[in-house]
Amino acid sequence: MKRVPTGIPGFDELIEGGIPEGASILVGGGPGAGKTIFAMQYIYEGARSYNEPGLYVTLETGLKDITWNMQSFSWDIKTLQDKNLMKIYRLNLTHSRSAEEIEQQIEKELAIITKMVDSIDAKRLVIDSVTAFGVWIPKRGALRHMIFEFANRLKETGCTTLLTSEIPKENRDNIGYKFSAYGVEEFVADGVVGLYFTPPNRSIFVRKMRGTNHSKSVHAFDIAENGIEIHPKDEMLWGALRQ
Ligand SMILES: Nc1ncnc2c1ncn2[C@@H]1O[C@H](COP(=O)(O)OP(=O)(O)O)[C@@H](O)[C@H]1O
Ligand SMILES: [Mg+2]
Repeated sequence: MKRVPTGIPGFDELIEGGIPEGASILVGGGPGAGKTIFAMQYIYEGARSYNEPGLYVTLETGLKDITWNMQSFSWDIKTLQDKNLMKIYRLNLTHSRSAEEIEQQIEKELAIITKMVDSIDAKRLVIDSVTAFGVWIPKRGALRHMIFEFANRLKETGCTTLLTSEIPKENRDNIGYKFSAYGVEEFVADGVVGLYFTPPNRSIFVRKMRGTNHSKSVHAFDIAENGIEIHPKDEMLWGALRQ
């Protein structure tokens, strides 16, 4: 099986060298857990260290997060963007009254994403975050259906994909079991990774990774001057994650 190394220091050795090519991975965590940095670093390292083009799709309200992160880690994305190794796209739906209108917009966005993937021959894709779809689709049933369809359609791009999801407070008590906002994200994903921030400790847990003998432990990580760094030998106890 071909694997896609994330390039995030310490992470790939937890998952036998990388994510199975073409898989979709859910990255769940509370606010500030490091989801955006993790996802961004995956695209950045892909472009920088493996010469693999990547598309980063953000659904968050501004591009500020992204630029701030880039600046604070001194990642030079300009050069990578100029070389077509990296692309950032902001997905923005408008509020619509009917389910059909939303569906049409999503269709349009899927077509744009597919076109962008083709234009740089992207191998890596990020959707940050799927939780944000909830802003436009208030009905839970419709939302879950949409996320399911959306994630499945993304698989047609052939990209190895990270989907981020924010774990809401009520689900965060259920450490190690709940990784997403709407509960459907886990089911479309071939892998699930949880990020936790229990001040002052950060930790990471691989809940599932198809076709992979992954680490079953919780590992410490840091956000340092170059981004996320996982300490694979540094295991934590579950109790340390409770907030
Ligand atoms: N340069 C940095 N050095 C150390 N920690 C940082 C740095 N930049 C951001 N952070 C930490 O990362 C957090 C944001 O991470 P982010 O990936 O945006 O979280 P999420 O997407 O899970 O909400 C900040 O709240 C801060 O704690
Ligand atoms: Mg984020």
